[in-house]
Amino acid sequence: MLLLSSIITLGGLLINLAGAQSKFTPARPPSLPLAVKNPYLSTWFPAGSDGGNGGYLPGQWPSFYTGQVTGWTGLIRVDGKAFTWMGAPKDVGTANQVSYEYTSTRSIFTIEVDGKVSLKATFLSPLTPTDYKRQSLIFSYLQVEVSSLDGSNHEVQLYSDISAEWASGDLNAVAQWDFGTADGISYHKVWKQNQQLFSEVDDRAEWGNIYYGTDSADSLTYQSGADVDVRGAFTANGKLANSKDSNFRAIDQNWPVFGYAIDLGSVGSSATSTLFSVGLCQGDAIQFLGKDGLTTLSSLWKSYFSDDLAALTFFHKDYSESSRLSTELDHKISSDSTAAAGQDYLTLTSLAARQAFGAVQLVGTQDKQYLFMKEISSNGNTQTIDVIYPASPIFFYLNPELVKLLLEPHFENQEAGQYPNKWAIHDLGTHYPNATGHTDGNDEHMPLEECGNNLIMVLSYAQRSNNVDYLKQHYPILQQWAEYLVEDSLYPANQLSTDDFAGHLANQTNLAIKGIIGLEAMSQISKLVGEDADANNYTSIAHDYITKWQPLGINSADNPPHTILTYNDASTHGLLYNLYNDKLISTNLVPQSVYDMQSTFYQSIQGTYGVDLDTRNKYTKSDWEIFAASIASTETKDMFISKLAKWVNETPTSKPFTDLYMTETGAFPPGIEFKARPVVGGVFALLALPK
Ligand SMILES: *[C@@H]1O[C@H](CO)[C@@H](O)[C@H](O)[C@H]1NC(C)=O
Ligand SMILES: *[C@@H]1O[C@H](CO)[C@@H](O)[C@H](O)[C@H]1NC(C)=O
Ligand SMILES: *[C@@H]1O[C@H](CO)[C@@H](O)[C@H](O)[C@H]1NC(C)=O
Repeated sequence: MLLLSSIITLGGLLINLAGAQSKFTPARPPSLPLAVKNPYLSTWFPAGSDGGNGGYLPGQWPSFYTGQVTGWTGLIRVDGKAFTWMGAPKDVGTANQVSYEYTSTRSIFTIEVDGKVSLKATFLSPLTPTDYKRQSLIFSYLQVEVSSLDGSNHEVQLYSDISAEWASGDLNAVAQWDFGTADGISYHKVWKQNQQLFSEVDDRAEWGNIYYGTDSADSLTYQSGADVDVRGAFTANGKLANSKDSNFRAIDQNWPVFGYAIDLGSVGSSATSTLFSVGLCQGDAIQFLGKDGLTTLSSLWKSYFSDDLAALTFFHKDYSESSRLSTELDHKISSDSTAAAGQDYLTLTSLAARQAFGAVQLVGTQDKQYLFMKEISSNGNTQTIDVIYPASPIFFYLNPELVKLLLEPHFENQEAGQYPNKWAIHDLGTHYPNATGHTDGNDEHMPLEECGNNLIMVLSYAQRSNNVDYLKQHYPILQQWAEYLVEDSLYPANQLSTDDFAGHLANQTNLAIKGIIGLEAMSQISKLVGEDADANNYTSIAHDYITKWQPLGINSADNPPHTILTYNDASTHGLLYNLYNDKLISTNLVPQSVYDMQSTFYQSIQGTYGVDLDTRNKYTKSDWEIFAASIASTETKDMFISKLAKWVNETPTSKPFTDLYMTETGAFPPGIEFKARPVVGGVFALLALPK
């Protein structure tokens, strides 16, 4: 285990004074994604100094995004001597990590063992945004390649295990397990004995089966049992007993682990490769209050595969195709990001991709799919509109149909009359995976925010899909939301915006502009469905409001001039990130002079890691910074992007990519730890704009 105080940064290299030294490319993120696939399969490696070890795979345990350990071990024996390459098992020395690299779908560690062999561990969490069969599987790969480093052949055995910590958030819970083979795949299966459907403990799922699989082979041995016994057998003998521990017990009682040993034999300069698959199978995924009342929705993979083992074996054997598809996606994101704004921008987008998709899951059937999203870490709400909205750029960029699948349950719930208020609902359930609605109307009201978000996302989807029927189908409720904007968008009542942690405020300049652009969106929606009178009416209201908004929301006496946070206080300011919508859906409502003014102003108030969200606090939001950057001058855009990329590399936080940090220190604000939230999909804002 590294001592935090013994790590220093020198020109892009993190140096551990005890000797290890690793290069991090393109950056050393706060937490490194390992197996990140949905809200319940989310294993990371804490790196930032505030709880992490600098990003060294050998010497510290991987953990769930909350920080709870998900024991995952890697050992290797070279010429009879054992070393740790992943995790922190007792009494086995660590190998030496020399590099870490990430792409949009992969985390790749290169580790040198005793100067004799090189071990490359590639964690691949595949993303297939248009291939729902593959995307629906809640599995992730770990490929381990070993080759000689010094020109000589070495006798090598490889080991990996997972612990029962993967099966529940409650360490006192009794785990049960099994081992079997199917279709050439060996698998350990682990589950919580007392299955609790739709329940969580500390954000962990209390139902479903965890699998850890690998290829069956003569060189493979397996064992379940107490951590010290199973790992001890490997370090002593290089192989396991092919035995099952039948004493089902609490997760923390003699820590049951599920191990594999593979005898790689004599390893020379050409790499030998071993593949592991880890994942979670849950049949039932979501409780949903839709048009047919309360229903249970299945995981979508259930409609492609007969059972868990069919899903596991398909996934494991699909490695080469899945890997190819992920490489294609890596290249697409890489070339588009670099062309749009350079390497610093790619540092952000490629870090955000798995995290954004890691908060969603496909459910339903092949005939009727939905994409459900968890508002991870901030409160666990299901399908929060003002979380879907900031996340949506990645979906607009990779597959706009996914935005439709996110909004679908909202339309079903509200069109069936399950929500009594005239404005749009905030979320579909107080806690994931329950989307049981708010029939009492007592959700967290953000009326202007959510009505604006819905109209903007719906038009953006229609523009990218040409799906006019969709607009026709939902026209009445879209109009209901637009009516709310007519009432409230010019002088927003005292209310919350999406930045609810900053509190209620009246006359928010940035919220007003979302509503006004929302009205222009409604005008375009009306035009597309052939309701010309409505179209003319909404556009004339929107133009009237935007003309009035400018003197209300701009302090033109200041040098440089800027928009203000609230009409009621000229001394305030804030990121005018909702101006982004004017470009996203090509409403072109706001004069160029406002864009130019903000570009100049942001430069004048920049801090170490970016620009404060507003004058109330010394923190900022990474998603909104990139919304603001995407419509700014080149110079200001580059300022935002380079400062956020610098933050990624230097932040002391060790939880997955936060969207809320102190602008000067890069740390979490006191008492608020946002982490692993899907809103980092918002860093794709630049790529979601129309070409
Ligand atoms: C979801 O609702 C069920 C009741 O239907 C409840 O038992 C469960 O605890 C809820 N889940 C969460 C995470 O709140
Ligand atoms: C909003 O601003 C307008 C114009 O300055 C003012 O008349 C109104 O009282 C303000 N609303 C609130 C709730 O403060
Ligand atoms: C225009 O919209 C406003 C606000 O909804 C409504 O009061 C008015 O009657 C509409 N006018 C026309 C001509 O449709």
